[in-house]
Amino acid sequence: KTRRRLAFGPVLLGVAGNPVVRATVTKSSLSRPVVRRFVPGTDADAAVRAAADLNGAGLRLTLDRLGEDITDPREATATVAGYREVLQRLADAGLTEGNEISVKLSALGQSLGTDGPALATHNAAELAAAAAGVGVDMTLDMEDHTTVDATLETLRALRADFPRTGAVLQSMLFRTEADARDLSGPGSRIRLVKGAYAEPASVAHAAKADVDRAYARCLEILVGGQGYPMIATHDQRMIDLAEELLRRHARSAEDAEFQMLYGIRTTEQQRLAQAGHRVRVYVPYGTDWYGYFSRRLAERPANLLFFARSLFSR
Ligand code: FDA
Repeated sequence: KTRRRLAFGPVLLGVAGNPVVRATVTKSSLSRPVVRRFVPGTDADAAVRAAADLNGAGLRLTLDRLGEDITDPREATATVAGYREVLQRLADAGLTEGNEISVKLSALGQSLGTDGPALATHNAAELAAAAAGVGVDMTLDMEDHTTVDATLETLRALRADFPRTGAVLQSMLFRTEADARDLSGPGSRIRLVKGAYAEPASVAHAAKADVDRAYARCLEILVGGQGYPMIATHDQRMIDLAEELLRRHARSAEDAEFQMLYGIRTTEQQRLAQAGHRVRVYVPYGTDWYGYFSRRLAERPANLLFFARSLFSR
C-alpha cells in the first residue's frame, strides 16, 4: 500500500497537469456521476441544496467555492463575489447555523507576485466579515508547502479581528508538529489533514506509514491542547484514535469535530453523528472542479479505475 501511494500519487498528479489530458477530462462534464459523487454541482443553488440535505441529516458543512491559483486579480474579486452570493443564499434559506466556508488563499490572489499575500489577506478579511455578518465561520484551506508561511501569516492577521478563523495543518510536512504546538492555544480552530499535494522529500514524509504516524502525533498535540481540533480524515484508525483521545482528555461533544469530504465514507459520517460527535462535511461546488477532482483520484487508485471505466461507458 505504501509503495502504491508513492508511485501513484505523483504520477497521476503529473498526468493531471498535462493540458491535453485536462481538456479531455474537463469535456467529460460534471454531469457524469463519477464527478458528481465528489462535487454536487456548479452553482450556489447546488451548494444550498447540499446544505439543506446535510443539515437535515444532522451534519454541518463547510462550503468550498472551487477555484485556485488565479492569474489575474479580477478573478480574486470574482471569488469574493461568489462567496458573498452563497453566504447570502444560505442566510436567506435559514441555513447558516453551525456552517462554515473554506477558502483557498490562492483563489484570493496569494500567488500574484510579491503583493499577492497582502492582497489575499485583504480579500480574506472582507470574506471573514461577510461570513461573520451572517453567523458563518471561515477556515483557510492549506495548499502546497511553499504557501504555508504566508497562509499562517494571513491567519494571524485575520484572527485579530475574527478570532474564530480556522486553518489547516498537513501531517505530511515535517514542520507541522511544531505548527500544531504553536496553534493549540485557546480559541484556535485547526483542521488536521494528512495533506493532498505532491511534496518534495526535503520537506515532507514520503511513506504513507510516516504520514500516518505524524497524523497520530499531531492529533495528540491538538486534542491535548486548548484549541478546537477539527479532525479531518477518512482513515478509520485515525478516527478510532481520535475518539479515544477525546475521551481521555474529557472533551465534550461541542469541543471538537470530525470532518470528511462530500461523497466519501458517508456511512461513517452518519455513525459518528449518531454517536454524538459533531460532524462537518466539506462540500466543493463550482465550475473549476478539475484540480479538486484530480487530487481525489490521486489519493485512491480505486477511484481512478472507477473514473476510467466511466469514460468508456456513455
Ligand atoms: P487516507 O488517504 O489514508 O485514506 C484512508 C481511507 O479513506 C482510504 O483507505 C479510503 O477508504 C478512504 N478514502 C480516502 N480518500 C478517498 C477518496 N478520495 N475516495 C474514496 N475513499 C477515500 N488537504 C490539503 O492538503 N489541504 C486542505 O486544506 C485539505 N482540506 C481537507 C478538508 C477535509 C474536511 C478533508 C476530509 C480532507 C482535506 N484535505 C486537505 C485532504 C487530505 O489532505 C487528504 O488528502 C484526504 O483526506 C485523504 O486522506 P485520509 O486522511 O482520508 O487518509
